[in-house]
Amino acid sequence: MTAKNSDFGSFAQDVLLGLSSNPKTLSSKYFYDAKGDKLFQQIMALPEYYLTRKEYEILKSKHELILASILSQDKPFNLVELGAGDGMKTKILLRYLTQLNIDFTYYPVDFSGSVLEELEESLLEELPELVVNPIQDTYRNSLKKQVWEDGRPNLILFMGANLGNFGVDEAKNIIDHLRVGTKKGDLVLIGFDLKKNPQTILDAYHDNVGVTREFNLNLLDRINRELDADFDRDSFVHWPTYDPVSGECRSYLVSLTAQQVAIGALNQTFDFKAFESIFTEISKKYSLSEIEHLASLGGFEVKENFMDSEGYFADVLWVKK
Ligand code: AVI
Repeated sequence: MTAKNSDFGSFAQDVLLGLSSNPKTLSSKYFYDAKGDKLFQQIMALPEYYLTRKEYEILKSKHELILASILSQDKPFNLVELGAGDGMKTKILLRYLTQLNIDFTYYPVDFSGSVLEELEESLLEELPELVVNPIQDTYRNSLKKQVWEDGRPNLILFMGANLGNFGVDEAKNIIDHLRVGTKKGDLVLIGFDLKKNPQTILDAYHDNVGVTREFNLNLLDRINRELDADFDRDSFVHWPTYDPVSGECRSYLVSLTAQQVAIGALNQTFDFKAFESIFTEISKKYSLSEIEHLASLGGFEVKENFMDSEGYFADVLWVKK
């Protein structure tokens, strides 16, 4: 998941910058306040939102194969997870490794301190023998600092299709941080949502009960709550789109009327024309050849693509050359 917390200053600054741009934008990283976290949990359980289930299926059915490369090195290692979240999927790997009595240290990285605390608590309860070193930081800063680096092999997990929430250039920049943050022989496991029937993709972002709509609109509620604004959420419509060429699923909030919105904390008003949109999120879908290209940009070789039975999702294992 992208950065979940922000101090008031950068949130206000980003809102000012985004709503002053043409076209208007707001970053999806601000979806994840306490309410947004709960809505995302609900999204992951939706019948239309196949991503979480598919990745869970991959880990459940292929964890032995996924871990075979790091285990074949027959040395203690570090398991670093970028965007640890609730650890639901990672626990499949952690349980397996502890059952085998493998010597490894788990470094969950997340920007949210409360997410890390909850994760540590639940791991202590379920797997008390596990060595856990939580790191509260962004993906990129943690890859710059590499506090886990001690000469042992590293397996870096970056699951959940989180890379898809970055535009092309930013995704390349993250891959470049992975390049700098790893050494020869290190392994990286990245989750990618794959290109598929466009209707299946659109449905995942336009569910029947409207949870994803609430998730998107929560951004306006959050600005109202935290920045003393007067967005009328009912005058905005949630509008996901999917371009099968670029693989970009883009979500918007479209103003149904011409209106003015005041943001107290910025001491400013913003004009919306009728049907003017705010771009709020990108969720990019990849082809296997695009993934291979990304790997080569980072100096990695594709070791294996692990996919679910329908070929919807891939957890790809890269090795640093
Ligand atoms: C966290 N991320 C991978 C989700 C996605 O599919 O892009 C966030 C999300 N947005 C709408 N639904 C789920």
